[in-house]
Amino acid sequence: MRGMGEGEILLDIKDFSVSFDVYGKKSHVLDGITFRVRAGERVGLVGESGCGKTTTLKAILRVLPKNAVIGGGSVLFGGRDVFGMARPELDDMRRRGAGMIFQDPSSALNPVFSVKSQFLTALRYANPPGTPKERLYEIAAEALDSVMLPDPHRIMDSFPYQLSGGMKQRVCIAMTIAAGRRLLLADEPGTSLDVTIQDQILRLINKLVSEKGLSVVMVSHSVGVIRESTNYVNIMYAGTVVESGATDDVFGNPMHPYTTALMSCVPKLTGGSIAQGIPGRVPDYMNTPAGCRFAPRCPRAKGACHERKPPHAEAAPGHYVSCHFASEAV
Ligand SMILES: Nc1ncnc2c1ncn2[C@@H]1O[C@H](COP(=O)(O)OP(=O)(O)OP(=O)(O)O)[C@@H](O)[C@H]1O
Ligand SMILES: [Mg+2]
Repeated sequence: MRGMGEGEILLDIKDFSVSFDVYGKKSHVLDGITFRVRAGERVGLVGESGCGKTTTLKAILRVLPKNAVIGGGSVLFGGRDVFGMARPELDDMRRRGAGMIFQDPSSALNPVFSVKSQFLTALRYANPPGTPKERLYEIAAEALDSVMLPDPHRIMDSFPYQLSGGMKQRVCIAMTIAAGRRLLLADEPGTSLDVTIQDQILRLINKLVSEKGLSVVMVSHSVGVIRESTNYVNIMYAGTVVESGATDDVFGNPMHPYTTALMSCVPKLTGGSIAQGIPGRVPDYMNTPAGCRFAPRCPRAKGACHERKPPHAEAAPGHYVSCHFASEAV
């Protein structure tokens, strides 16, 4: 965690596991996830579809689906166990501590209320009781201005259907930031929008995060997005973190075969190589491999890989890899 070593730990996820009850059978999705986010740090979660990125973010806010069962481990926010919090503390954490920015902004805003009414409700909870409505309105207008939305007053009077997707996404970001939250959970922000808007949204998040010293967990299946917008990365495969470390170290010197495969899926602008897909698919969570979850797809897998789970071990300073044969060149 380059330059952040001394930062206060905001989020601390330790050996956290979640399964889902599906018609009486258990689907073992998250299998011992561990990572931390320090104040001001930008942490990426990258992995292919279905590897558990959204499930991890939902766990942080304790908004997991009803059929989720916690299998072990803990999620600490500001040193407090999220799953042990009583209702008022949990509400406070969601209103002022951590907020999620969704892939599809339409689902995050209520279509039947104006932006103003939703914004002021959110701010009322986040500010001391009795804060005058005019003051809340001012805070909201400033926040809309900071996400570069023209004419904040008009936006305040709008209903979600009157705004474009990119505008709605900006409103969501403004609401998250204005409430004074310290941690943004950005779940593939803007991937439901076109690429230029998506790019603007990412730039905006990066700008606000650095200006306000916020922390962010940025989820993406794109290596490019993660390289550009994070300083620490966790590579996820099938509900496990297979490699983690400073973003430059992990992508500069990938040690897990899955990371290498993920990187080779990025088309090269020079056209020098053809993107190779990763053969095989994410394992069936109802019937997960006994050893390393990546073993069935791994070009290097040997006996031990099918028998024992590899530890998440420090293979180079600050660079962790879950692979029995991490030291072998990829
Ligand atoms: N409520 C649920 N019941 C059963 N299985 C679920 C439930 N929610 C998620 N899953 C399963 O958990 C796995 C991880 O899902 P998750 O949405 O966390 O993946 P993801 O990494 O965010 O994928 P994507 O990139 O497609 O958004 C998937 O196999 C999914 O089908
Ligand atoms: Mg997802």
